Amino acid sequence: MTSLSEPAATSVLRHKTAIRRTSFSRPIKCLLRDGLLAASDALFDYGCGHGQDLALLGDLGIACRGWDPVYRPDAARVPADVVNLGYVINVIEEPHERTETLRRAWEMSRRLLVVAAQTEFAAPAKELSAFSDGVLTSRGTFQKYYTQAELRGYLEATLGATAIPAAPGIFYLFKCEENGHEFLANRFRRQAPVPPKRLSEVLFEQNQDILAPFMEALSLLGRIPGPEELSETSAIVERLGSLKRAFALVRRVTDEGTWKEIARRRNEDLLVYLALARFRRRPSFSKLPARTQRDVKAFFGSYNRSCSEADALLFRAGDATAIDEACQRSPVGVLRENALLLRKDTLHELDPLLRVYEGCARALLGDVEDANVVKLHRYSGKVSYLVYDDLDDGRQPTLRLRIKVSLRTLGIDVYRHSSPQPAPPA
Ligand SMILES: C[S@@+](CC[C@H](N)C(=O)[O-])C[C@H]1O[C@@H](n2cnc3c(N)ncnc32)[C@H](O)[C@@H]1O
Repeated sequence: MTSLSEPAATSVLRHKTAIRRTSFSRPIKCLLRDGLLAASDALFDYGCGHGQDLALLGDLGIACRGWDPVYRPDAARVPADVVNLGYVINVIEEPHERTETLRRAWEMSRRLLVVAAQTEFAAPAKELSAFSDGVLTSRGTFQKYYTQAELRGYLEATLGATAIPAAPGIFYLFKCEENGHEFLANRFRRQAPVPPKRLSEVLFEQNQDILAPFMEALSLLGRIPGPEELSETSAIVERLGSLKRAFALVRRVTDEGTWKEIARRRNEDLLVYLALARFRRRPSFSKLPARTQRDVKAFFGSYNRSCSEADALLFRAGDATAIDEACQRSPVGVLRENALLLRKDTLHELDPLLRVYEGCARALLGDVEDANVVKLHRYSGKVSYLVYDDLDDGRQPTLRLRIKVSLRTLGIDVYRHSSPQPAPPA
């Protein structure tokens, strides 16, 4: 005898009805579209097949579980806010078992049951052999193709609740009649002035305690931190699946352009470092600090690639035309006939080529501590460091010292001044 809730043992190949999905099934799409699945909701997928809906909902951070007599027979059948009975009743050839399955799903739902079944529109044109109250398909599966009215009548008569059409072949049944009315009223309510929060925003807010330090690490590194670089890693993996998914969430909720810009700047910093490291004999990959090793892999894929890009940059620093063009494009400093003059504290705003150009001079000279202005010569391969007195206190500044480094001859000239000189750029 067939048990009330377990599938009947017949020659019908029910397991063959489950397809491998790559996107949400229609009933789940309806729930998301209609805002009936919040981040705080638990969902149970009754007759979940291969479980792709569960995996995709998990990616959104929704707590969900599922059971299937063929694919997850050992999973527990537990109550949930929302229960999905998606394309299950139409594959059960035994009407009594079908009704019991529907009732059980209804009992498990705390707020909403969504039921999807095949409709007559999906029925193949060719003649199929009649079986029970449906047909047997050529694959040996059973299908009951419902009309919209028939499905609605069946659901309402079986469960004693109102079945609200969500889409052809898909109905919502709310546990509390009031919720159904509220849903229908919302359907016709025109756009609210404040748009409802997206699921990702809610998830983002709920996980601020771990996402705030994660974002700090992201902006410091310009890339996803390694597990040893962030103490919140295991909490993030536990709650959001992986650091990669956490970053996808952060990008969705915050301004994606900002993260791209941070990554671009970190990438440039690394390139400048590697180009200038050539002067001291560039270390082998294994001698690089662990953080730099991660940077290299994240930004360039391999050390070889990063070194050849760095070498190309260093090589261009010897090209007067490239230097002149970069000086003309510079977002900081004042362009003079022969040089770009800039405040020393704006050096980091220069493009990587000019940072390397100046860095080469510093590699020869070291840091001129008191220098407050830098002169990048546009054509002659020289960099000068200028020390002004009284530069920012409102008085006429006086140029005290000027050190000129020639990158071509490697010569260093020092000039001392005592008389007032023209003021440098502000
Ligand atoms: C067409 S598939 C749908 C699977 C999934 N809900 C989806 O939409 O991808 C039908 C599923 O119902 C399951 N099934 C068959 N009899 C069942 C029963 N009595 N109770 C629950 N699920 C059943 C089958 O194992 C099969 O995985």
